[in-house]
Amino acid sequence: MTAVLDDYLNRRPAAIQPLEFPHNTHLGKEISCDTCHEGVNTGPVAGLPSVKTCMICHESIATDRPRIQQITAMRDKGIDLAWQRVYGFSAQDHVRFDHAPHIRAKVDCANCHGNMAEQTVAEVKVDHSMGFCVNCHNEKKASVDCLTCHF
Ligand code: HEC
Ligand code: HEC
Ligand code: HEC
Ligand code: HEC
Ligand code: HEC
Repeated sequence: MTAVLDDYLNRRPAAIQPLEFPHNTHLGKEISCDTCHEGVNTGPVAGLPSVKTCMICHESIATDRPRIQQITAMRDKGIDLAWQRVYGFSAQDHVRFDHAPHIRAKVDCANCHGNMAEQTVAEVKVDHSMGFCVNCHNEKKASVDCLTCHF
């Protein structure tokens, strides 16, 4: 019931992540977004990484640190990282969003997600309101037809 009410009022409780993942550390090492968000250039959904993606590097990198030992143990037990979503729309708004055309049009991630190099786990830095979307679509001469963004 609470979940339904939260959805109705478009309230999202702050995400509680299974691990304090540091975006800042990784972006400081110039690791590109699509290493972990594999779908972002090609489709609607960017995707969140499974522990297997982490272990491509952490099989050998920083293996003496507690958080790396924690994910290694999870992988060994066959448990995945249950990331909670940070951004998203209320189901009743029937919004359709697609990453790929934005990346093709060279819209930077930071326009819509803030500077990830200053974040550990992702936080909501940009309000994805209808006005936010429509203003840029007007500016860039992208479609503002209702059915571009709604179904
Ligand atoms: C492309 C390689 C790569 C991938 C993939 C990767 N990491 Fe890392 N990670 C690094 C590097 C490089 C560092 C910095 C290590 C250092 O400080 O020497 C790092 C550091 C970290 C640290 C900080 C360690 C500490 O306590 O100092 C954590 C936590 C971490 N990674 C978790 C993850 C998780 C969780 C994933 C999967 C979602 C992941 N990493 C995927 C390369 C990677
Ligand atoms: C034009 C705005 C915009 C741009 C540019 C953008 N995003 Fe997003 N992103 C969104 C919106 C809106 C959502 C929520 C979509 C939903 O839940 O339906 C989202 C969700 C996500 C998610 C979680 C859901 C998913 O799709 O897996 C990830 C991860 C993500 N974005 C990463 C990125 C990365 C990485 C880039 C740059 C390479 C990027 N985004 C560029 C607007 C944007
Ligand atoms: C080494 C892996 C890694 C890299 C590189 C990485 N991310 Fe992430 N990202 C994650 C993980 C793990 C999560 C889930 C935890 C969280 O929400 O922070 C995540 C979550 C997100 C989310 C929240 C999505 C949602 O709605 O739940 C956004 C937005 C995002 N990343 C954007 C980016 C952008 C933009 C870049 C590049 C500038 C980037 N990430 C680079 C691993 C990575
Ligand atoms: C900073 C600018 C910017 C923002 C913010 C933005 N868009 Fe876009 N959007 C674009 C551009 C540029 C295109 C590509 C238009 C093209 O390919 O002709 C696009 C394309 C799209 C498409 C594909 C349209 C098609 O014809 O295939 C959808 C769907 C879309 N945007 C939805 C959204 C939604 C929903 C939001 C808000 C969450 C949003 N956009 C925010 C600039 C933006
Ligand atoms: C460029 C994308 C985009 C276009 C075009 C667009 N919308 Fe939206 N609309 C959104 C987004 C994103 C939301 C969700 C806002 C939120 O969650 O705060 C939304 C929310 C709504 C809502 C829910 C109430 C609200 O204001 O939050 C209605 C109703 C709506 N749109 C109607 C329309 C109509 C009618 C049109 C055409 C005249 C239209 N939209 C065109 C992106 C768009």
